[in-house]
Amino acid sequence: MTAEYQVNGSVAVITLNNPPVNGLGLSTRTAAVAGIKQALADDAVKAIIITGAGKAFSGGADIKEFNSPKALAEPSLHTLIATVENSTKPVIAAIHSVAMGGGLELALGCHYRVALPGAQIALPEVKLGLLPGAGGTQRLPRVLGLEMALNMIVSGTPVLSEKLAKTALFDELLPADSDLLAGATAFANKVADVRPLPKVRDRKVDYPNHEAFLQFSRNTVKAMSGPFPAPLECVETVAATVTKKFEDGLKFERDRFLHLIQTTESKSLRHAFISERQCSKVPDVPADTPVRAIKSAAVIGAGTMGGGIAMNFLNAGIPVKLLETKQEALDKGMATIRKNYENTMKKGKLTQEKFDQRMALLSGTLSYDDIGQADIVVEAVFEDMGVKETVFRKLDEVMKQGAILASNTSTLDVNKIAAFTQRPQDVIGLHFFSPANVMKLLEIVRGAKTGKDVLATALALSKKLKKTGVVSGVCDGFIGNRMIEQYSRQAGFLLEEGCLPEQVDKAIEKFGFAMGPFRMGDLAGNDIGWYIRKRRYVESPEISYSKTADLLCEMGRFGQKTGAGWYDYKAGDRKAYPSEVVNAMIVKHSADIGVERRKISDQEIVERLVFAMVNEAALILEEGIAMRASDIDMVYLTGYGFPLFRGGPMFYADTVGLPNVLAAIEKYGRGHHGEAWKPAPLLLRLAAEGKTFNG
Ligand code: NAI
Repeated sequence: MTAEYQVNGSVAVITLNNPPVNGLGLSTRTAAVAGIKQALADDAVKAIIITGAGKAFSGGADIKEFNSPKALAEPSLHTLIATVENSTKPVIAAIHSVAMGGGLELALGCHYRVALPGAQIALPEVKLGLLPGAGGTQRLPRVLGLEMALNMIVSGTPVLSEKLAKTALFDELLPADSDLLAGATAFANKVADVRPLPKVRDRKVDYPNHEAFLQFSRNTVKAMSGPFPAPLECVETVAATVTKKFEDGLKFERDRFLHLIQTTESKSLRHAFISERQCSKVPDVPADTPVRAIKSAAVIGAGTMGGGIAMNFLNAGIPVKLLETKQEALDKGMATIRKNYENTMKKGKLTQEKFDQRMALLSGTLSYDDIGQADIVVEAVFEDMGVKETVFRKLDEVMKQGAILASNTSTLDVNKIAAFTQRPQDVIGLHFFSPANVMKLLEIVRGAKTGKDVLATALALSKKLKKTGVVSGVCDGFIGNRMIEQYSRQAGFLLEEGCLPEQVDKAIEKFGFAMGPFRMGDLAGNDIGWYIRKRRYVESPEISYSKTADLLCEMGRFGQKTGAGWYDYKAGDRKAYPSEVVNAMIVKHSADIGVERRKISDQEIVERLVFAMVNEAALILEEGIAMRASDIDMVYLTGYGFPLFRGGPMFYADTVGLPNVLAAIEKYGRGHHGEAWKPAPLLLRLAAEGKTFNG
């Protein structure tokens, strides 16, 4: 049973029991409704308590039933709440730990609410592009008042029960650590005979001059919610509590909920929510695979990445030894970490105590003898196979048995790196993104011989470091950079055909990317791509690139760090100014290669950049480098600034329709550098079968 029924004296207790957070799935709702009916039929019962077993009162909708017909099947959450509210015997919600979404809506349908301190109270639906659809927008303002309820519903942020102690949400807040059921039972006995039964729906929302307040809220929320419609819809439904009767408000809420659930923005957010949970599941690595304890770490190389990686461990309370070859480089790396934390402290986001704790966990060394006992070592030295070989041979000598040997390489072959050791089963790629202490993505590169327990440990570690860990197979660039390569190639070809950098950047930024390819290149350093292309010209001469990026680098324009790149920069100003010199170079290059420049639409720019990635991703999926399309979406949402409201490249392609994507690819295949557009077999197949990437 997912809800248990029990009678203690004259009080019936319905305990929601659907781990992990008592999601209100169909069977739980059915059992709860049955419990109420049983209690009503029992003359000995005078009052009814609803509470939750384990870690929550209720976390709301059951994620397992997301997007399934079960979510709306009867008894629906509405029916359950109506059954509770219409009960002729008092129903008391006994709340602890978590009352969120549908869980809070259920509590609001009860006649009374008793809670323990420390419970997280929230209506977080807005985070999935929705609004609370089971009366939450109509009932919460009736107990918290217009302003506080609006803030909670529009932000979705949890508030601790003790902060709401003085509101009408709770009839009684019990002392911390007291017995919830005992307290709720005492309360139930006290109110058992009180009539009429209080109902939240009967309360009035009073707010002097509410129109002015609502208009102010509309303006603020509109300015802050970007492309997402849900926050503004939340304002409108909350507004209904002062402009409409309860029943009409409820209908309005239902109507707006059903509208939002169909929007691409909400579908994208729900896709991202589910995908995040999916990506830690690896079919041949069962959930009960033993993991290795990670209580200490070492990082090799204290440069851009090494410092950020070390901070991740420090933030998670794991001591780190940072190893460099020269004292000067070590001092610089250590000082950067300290400065980063000091800046966070200045912004008021880190206390002195936490700062001291973190710095105490950090030590530097020049000797491998000092790191041998670490449970994990992450190498972040120069991107050069020779240097990696020296490091991994040394690690194989000094590291204790069972230590995990990880590389942060962004392009090199993890299998080759593993082969430098006698323990390839312990070697794995942990590809952090820059800045490593900020970016959420962690590509976990599974080598051919990586042990299952090592992979399971890396996945568990990614959670501990608060990263989104996505498993990738071994290939040049792994999932993310292999796809971005196709995007960059198209950006270059667009310049040859008629675009200038700012047109390309503006078009893709309008689509929703945080930054276009040329502004991004200037930020990251155009020399990195130049270095990679030079290698490719030798290793893979068949791959075509626009020469514009090479010409740019030959001019010494590496980006912001040299004060000039695709754009001009002024000292002390990160703003990108279109560059006459660069634009002239581009136009001249088109003439040199005999291309007549033409006007290119924003739609073509977006399609060429995005579909080039999608086509490569289809190969990545078919080759098994990525386990699922949704993993690819997570890589792009968490590591590459792909617009969240579009759900990731694969989800976006699905919404466009794969036959349309294919038709565009075939069209571009007949244009400039058409050889770059060979449709991936998987895309051809899915488009022909009328299927989608995300199933
Ligand atoms: P970096 O040049 O900033 O830092 C490398 C550091 O390694 C330097 O401080 C250097 O003194 C040290 N080093 C070199 N050889 C060493 C050795 N044998 N033993 C100990 N230390 C040694 O380079 P960055 O950008 O931090 O890159 C490091 C690795 O991370 C590379 O494999 C790179 O491909 C990868 N990566 C870089 C990203 C980026 O955005 N910069 C993103 C993701 C991965």
